[in-house]
Amino acid sequence: MTWLITGGAGYIGAHVTRALAAAGERVVVLDDVSSGIPERLPADIPLVRGSILDGEPLRRVFAEHEVTGVVHLAGRKQVGESVERPLHYYRENLHGLTVLLDAVAEAGIQRFVFSSSAAVYGNPPTADLVTEDTPCAPLSPYGETKLAGEWLVRATGRAHGIATVCLRYFNVAGAGAPELADTGVFNIVPMVFDRLTRDEAPRIFGDDYPTADGTCVRDYIHVSDLARAHLAACRRTGEGAGAGDLTVNVGSGTGVSVRELVTLIGEVTGDRRPALVEPRRPGDAPVAVASARLAGEALGWKAVLGVREMVESAWEGWLLRHPEARSCEGRATED
Ligand SMILES: NC(=O)c1ccc[n+]([C@@H]2O[C@H](COP(=O)([O-])OP(=O)(O)OC[C@H]3O[C@@H](n4cnc5c(N)ncnc54)[C@H](O)[C@@H]3O)[C@@H](O)[C@H]2O)c1
Repeated sequence: MTWLITGGAGYIGAHVTRALAAAGERVVVLDDVSSGIPERLPADIPLVRGSILDGEPLRRVFAEHEVTGVVHLAGRKQVGESVERPLHYYRENLHGLTVLLDAVAEAGIQRFVFSSSAAVYGNPPTADLVTEDTPCAPLSPYGETKLAGEWLVRATGRAHGIATVCLRYFNVAGAGAPELADTGVFNIVPMVFDRLTRDEAPRIFGDDYPTADGTCVRDYIHVSDLARAHLAACRRTGEGAGAGDLTVNVGSGTGVSVRELVTLIGEVTGDRRPALVEPRRPGDAPVAVASARLAGEALGWKAVLGVREMVESAWEGWLLRHPEARSCEGRATED
C-alpha cells in the first residue's frame, strides 16, 4: 500500500504525510511547491515536483511508486483571492481534480481522500451545530470549487468503484512542530500574531452578534488532530467495496468566540492589549460549529487537542519565522 499525498509540502499536507508515515504507511508526495516548503518533509519521504494539472507526471508517479491510494490536498485556499481570480481557482481546484481523478481511474486506484472545507456551507442558516445534512451554499468561488470537487469525487468513486472520503475541515490552526507551522496570514490566529508583531492591536469584526459575548463563534481544530482524521479516513477506504463514499465534518463540536480566542492569544504571547472592535464584515456567520457526531461514528475519530495547545504551538511556529515577535512577550499592556 502506497499513498500519494498531493500538496504534501503544504501546511496541512506535511502533517498528514508525517502522520501516515508514523503509522507505518508508505507515502510519496506530489507538490508543485507553489506555496509548499520541501523542508517540511522528512528526508526519507520522496517528493516529486509537479502539478496535478499535468496528467503525465501523475501517471509516472502512480506507476513508479505503485500507488494504491491518494490523499488530495493540493489546491488554492484563499477565499478573497478566489473572488478576484475565479478562473484561477476553478482551474487549479476543479480542473486539477478532473485531471487527477482521470489518472486515478485509469490506474485502477481504489482509495481517495479529498480535502474539502466548511466553506461549502457558506453562512449556516441556524445557530445549531452544522451537520453534514445542513444545506450547502458556498459564498465564494473557493467554496464552490470545494463543493463541486466533492460532487466530482463522489461521482467518479461510484462510477469506477473507488472508495472515497471528503473531509470538511473547520478552522484549522496550530502546528505539530514549529517548522511545520502555517506561514500564511489568512486565518485568525496568524492574523492576530501579525498585528501584535507590528505592535498593533488585534481587530475584532463586530461585537453585536447574537452570541454570548457578541463576537462570532467558530470551531477550531488542531492540525495534528486533523492529520489523525486523514489517517482514519485512509483506513476507512480500505474496508473493501462496502466502504462507498463518506462526506464528513472535521471539527471539535465546540464553539470558541473571537473574543475568547483573542484573549487566549494575549495570554500566550504576553501581549494583552485590548482589541479594536471594527464593523461586521459582510458574509460572516454569527456561529459556525461542526457536529462531530458522524466523524466519531464513521471514522472513530474525535478532536483531543484544545485551543490553548493550538495557540501555543502556532506561536512557537510563528516565533521561528518572526524572531522579532519575542518582544511581544514583555509587552503586557492590559491596564
Ligand atoms: N488551512 C485551512 O484552514 C483549510 C481549511 C479547509 C480546507 N483546506 C484545504 O486543505 C488543503 C491544504 O491546505 P493548506 O492550508 O495546507 O494550504 P497550503 O497552501 O499550505 O498547501 C497546499 C499545497 O498544495 C501545493 N499545490 C498547490 N497547487 C498545486 C498543484 N496544482 N499541483 C501540485 N501541488 C499544488 C502547494 O505547493 C502546497 O504545498 C487545500 O486544499 C485547502 O483548500 C485548508
